[in-house]
Parts: sequence; structure tokens; C-alpha cells
Amino acid sequence: MEEVVNIINAKVWLRRKLTEAGISIVGDRIAKVGKDSNLLKANRVFDAGGRVVLPGFIDVHTHLRDFELSYKEDFSSGTAAAVAGGFTLVLDMPNNRPPTTTPEVLKARIQKAEGKLYCDVGFYATPKSPDQVRDLANSGCIAMKIYMARSLDGEKYSTEKEIFDLIKATSSFGITLSIHAEDSKMIRKVGDAPSPNLHAKAHPVKAEENAIEMAINATRRSHGKVNICHVSSLNGLSKIKRAKEDGVDVTCEATPHHTILTNEVFQKFGKIAIVEPPLRSKKHTEAILKGISDGDVDILATDHAPHTLEEKEKAQPGFPGLEIALPVFFTLVKDGLLPLHRVVDAFTIKPARRFSLDYSGEIDVGRTANFTIIDLKGEKRIDQENFFSKAKFSPFNGMVVKAGVYATFIRGKEIFLNGEIVSPAGVGKVIHGKICR
Ligand code: DOR
Ligand code: ZN
Repeated sequence: MEEVVNIINAKVWLRRKLTEAGISIVGDRIAKVGKDSNLLKANRVFDAGGRVVLPGFIDVHTHLRDFELSYKEDFSSGTAAAVAGGFTLVLDMPNNRPPTTTPEVLKARIQKAEGKLYCDVGFYATPKSPDQVRDLANSGCIAMKIYMARSLDGEKYSTEKEIFDLIKATSSFGITLSIHAEDSKMIRKVGDAPSPNLHAKAHPVKAEENAIEMAINATRRSHGKVNICHVSSLNGLSKIKRAKEDGVDVTCEATPHHTILTNEVFQKFGKIAIVEPPLRSKKHTEAILKGISDGDVDILATDHAPHTLEEKEKAQPGFPGLEIALPVFFTLVKDGLLPLHRVVDAFTIKPARRFSLDYSGEIDVGRTANFTIIDLKGEKRIDQENFFSKAKFSPFNGMVVKAGVYATFIRGKEIFLNGEIVSPAGVGKVIHGKICR
């Protein structure tokens, strides 16, 4: 007989709103949702203490690293950070060492990850050319990702034509192509270890705007589907909004840092705050915040990008995000700056639909019992020392937040509870994309 667990005394996210209800879990699935008194007879009861139970959060933009970059993060530390941040599924980015550009590397990542994960993981891969898409897709990746201004392994996707040809291939297999949109022609060279201001100047708004325009044109002409990673500017977001109105199948992500941190934090955090695309002025953060509020931003994503402190001194871009994203966005909800449904949707149903991860994303009978249980009472300061990530620094350090993760359930089991990981690694599974042929 499979164990029956009841979650009681909860406010549950059902059909896009919060309802006082309980959940019966049988094995790894949701068997019943209803009044606590109507739940199944349980072997075990989890009292949510009146907290909010949301569908398991998905992060479509995580750099788990591992392999030769294990000193920055590895599959266990990265997914530990994920469950501590309320995520039940993350998608791993391809800019690894070795890069995820061949079926062999992709398969090696899948194999090594099995048994080491605290949450579910799907993998991105970068095709070296459009004719490699089929083999990569059939080797188990969930989605594909390109950098327009950078090459991981000799590939080049910096012109509209190159992107068009690739989208034709990815879309014919039903794959969403994620694009880091910065126009290489507009990125200025700066010396080693630039200051954050100089680094930001080298990555102007125009670089993002041009690249997004190219990506949109390629998507329109190819009738494909594209997701723009971490949009960071008013100009870029406006282009995406207009393209959607024209019927182009384009979505976009926004990160916590591009939503609330401006280049003013460079003074306090120095090179820690260097990231690509860079932090910009208030005009742009306000546009991203409004875009989330209006639903023009589809997906919230962390761009969790761990490095060592020595590497940050050399201006390597990025910082960890898995453990601050939920507290930051729900603080914005509590402060009345974002509607609750936008934030929940952008972490659950929207990424699930965009990347065909629909085993998760909603609370309903028959679905996998993945939940993110959050605390909306009290305040605390973000403390980088408490991160499960190997990267214990953040430009959000010290910020007062009014929300936190209480528990993370994966397939019916608590993995993270009240500040601690309460399950051995290996509960997380690798999620494979559909085989295409
Ligand atoms: O800031 C960033 N860090 N932007 C990227 O595009 C890559 C990422 C990383 O891998 O560190
Ligand atoms: Zn990234």
C-alpha cells in the first residue's frame, strides 16, 4: 500500500487563486484536494500552519556547472540551493566546461547528475550547427540555448540569418530556443577586470535591443518559437511586447536583479554586482517591474550564476540567485508592487507550458505532488552566509525581505523544511525531453 500524506491547514493555489484547503498525496501524486475534513485517511499529516501552498516552482535559467567547474557549483550544491529557494525543477544552462554542445557531453551530464540531485533537472544544449539539433534533441535535452555574442564551441549565431536557420531546425522538433540576446557588434571590448560601471557601459541597451530585434525577425520569418533570456531594458521589452501583439511566438524571462537592482548598487557591492546583461538605470528596472505586473514578462528566472570570489574580482559576470528570487518577488507582492497571480504564474504554469514541463506547474488531482510552501509572515534579512550554493555572495545581501520558503515538496516528500534539507540527494530526477526522430 502506498503511503497517504495529508497537507492540512493550508491556503492552496487552485485554479489561479488561494483557497483554504488540504491536499491528499498518494505516493508521488495528488489524489485529492478539498476541505481538510474531506481528505483521505492518512498515514501522516503535514500541518502547513496556515501557510500558502503553491505548485512547485520552476527555474528555467540555472547554471549548475559541475564537471570542470565543480569548484563553482556542482549538481548537489546547486540543487540544494534550488530546493532551499523553493524550486522543484531547474533547467541547467549549457555554458559548461566541457560545454553542453554534443550528445556525448549531454549524456555525460545526465548520467553524472542521476543520484546527486535534490530537485528535478532538465538540460539545455547548444547545437554547434542546425543539423546537430536532431541528435542533441534525441539525447535528452529539454530545450536549446544560444548566446548571440559568444561562442561555446565554435558555433556562431550572431546574425538574423544564422538564428533563422537554427530556429527552423529547433521548431521542427517542437523545441523552444532560448536566446541570450546581446548584439556582438555593439559590445565594446574592455580590458581585464573592468569596474562594474565600465563593464555596464561595454554592454549598452542598444546591444540588447538590436539583438532582440534580430531574434524576433528570425522568429517571425521562421514561424518558430523563441524565449528571450533575462530581458533587462525598456527598449528590449517594448520590442517583445510589440512582436507578441503581431502574433510572433516569443516569450521572455526577467530576473530578480533586473527587476529591482539598479547600477547604484555598484557603489556598495563593486564587482560582485557585475552581470550580463548588466544592471541598468531606474527607467529600465521600472519597465521590467511593470512588464511583470502587466504580464508582458512571461517567466521569472534566477540566472543563478555561481563563481568564486577570486573570479568575481576578475569581473566574471553573474551571481547566485536561486535562494533570493522567491523572497524578493513575494516581498514585491506584499508591498503591493506586483499582483500575486503574475508572480505565481511566472514561476509555475508559464514556464511549464513554454518548455513542455507539464507534469508540474499546477495543483490538481493526478498531477505530481510538487509544492512550494511559503511563509508570508515576518521579515528577515537576506544572509549570504546561509546559502546552500557554493557561491556565498550576493548583491541582495542584507536586503530586508517579507517572504521566505518554508518547505519544498517533490513527488510527495519534503526535501527542504524550515531552513534545512531533510532528504538525501537522489530524490531529484533528470527530466528528459521528448524523443523527436
Ligand atoms: O552574468 C552572466 N553569467 N551572464 C551570462 O550570460 C553567463 C552567466 C554565467 O554563466 O556565469
Ligand atoms: Zn545565464
